[in-house]
Amino acid sequence: MKRISNILVKKEKITPPPIWIMRQAGRYLPEYREVRSKTKNFLDLCYNPQLVKEVTLQPIRRFDFDAAIIFSDILVIPDMIGVDVKFISGEGPKLGSFSIDDLSIDGVKEKLSPVYEAIKITRLELSKEKDLIGFSGSPWTLACYMIDKGSSKNFALTRRMAIEDEVYFEKLINLLSEAVVEYLILQIEAGVDVIKLFDSWAGILPQDQFRKWVIKPNKFIINKIREKYPNFPIICFPKSASFMYEEFVSEVNCDAIAIDQSTDLDFAHDILHKKHQKVVQGNLDNFLLAFGSKDDIRRSIDKILDKLSPSPFIFNLGHGILPETPISNVEFLVDYVRNYRA
Ligand code: CP3
Repeated sequence: MKRISNILVKKEKITPPPIWIMRQAGRYLPEYREVRSKTKNFLDLCYNPQLVKEVTLQPIRRFDFDAAIIFSDILVIPDMIGVDVKFISGEGPKLGSFSIDDLSIDGVKEKLSPVYEAIKITRLELSKEKDLIGFSGSPWTLACYMIDKGSSKNFALTRRMAIEDEVYFEKLINLLSEAVVEYLILQIEAGVDVIKLFDSWAGILPQDQFRKWVIKPNKFIINKIREKYPNFPIICFPKSASFMYEEFVSEVNCDAIAIDQSTDLDFAHDILHKKHQKVVQGNLDNFLLAFGSKDDIRRSIDKILDKLSPSPFIFNLGHGILPETPISNVEFLVDYVRNYRA
């Protein structure tokens, strides 16, 4: 049984809860670093279906997670619609300037064909018991990287543009929304079992702008996907949304809501799950998993499981696993969750 899509469709708990972790294929794994060292540019890895399949399956072989997430990056969307995207080692992504009139979503189909090919061959090799998760960045988060041209502490240029030049900014958000819809539908048709939308910078917006740039586009995307695939399992991650998580789930028709490590567990249980019927996914602190003692990690896992696992729940971290994380801590986590009895 595919445990994650099963929970998302039936909204019934499974014991012990399924587990996967964000960024599970990545630099904390020596076998990932080995493959990564063979490709100069990170995007060359993302566009090589055989290598993508290989790194996608690595964490499943090692830890037997319940799901594989197709190895890629949210920044393939700006790359394919006409923005120059480079990953510089030690510095992260660097994006080039663009004019919105030069961007075109026509490339989603052809230019991203290596992603769909990777999904096809990975699904063939992955056990039928495991879910394959496809994903995209959400428009606000993609716009943040595009306008600030890479990572940033506060995405000041994007925040400024969204206020000062709202008409232009909305045009960009709408274009990205169309691209994301098409991209996710093509991933579904290539064979993923679940999709997840990452809105990593949702939490930096005040409420009225959160409605405009986070809730509205995520809602648009999911409604469009549901016109074609009404019951397809969808997870949303409007990271650090705090109390806006509630308005998000009341407006956006997702099956599960992923919560970051700052989200209160009672709030997640009482409001997001009980009141709004969402499956909850989360939220062990990624820093605790990397740098905490086994005792502290165990205590934190217990708190999460005691509160959330009596309901339909998917265990995950609150954000991506850090490259410094000892493999033994991940083994400990998986073993502990698998043997947990309430
Ligand atoms: O295993 C998985 O989760 C699938 C792969 C995946 C990657 N990026 C691989 C990656 C996923 C789902 C992402 C999503 C992503 N990418 C997000 C949203 C989730 C989040 O973390 O909030 C964001 C904001 C990005 C953008 C991005 N990609 C940044 C800022 C960086 C540089 C920082 C860093 O960690 O190096 C990346 C690079 C990146 N994406 C790496 C990996 C494994 C590291 C690059 C390398 O191996 O050289």
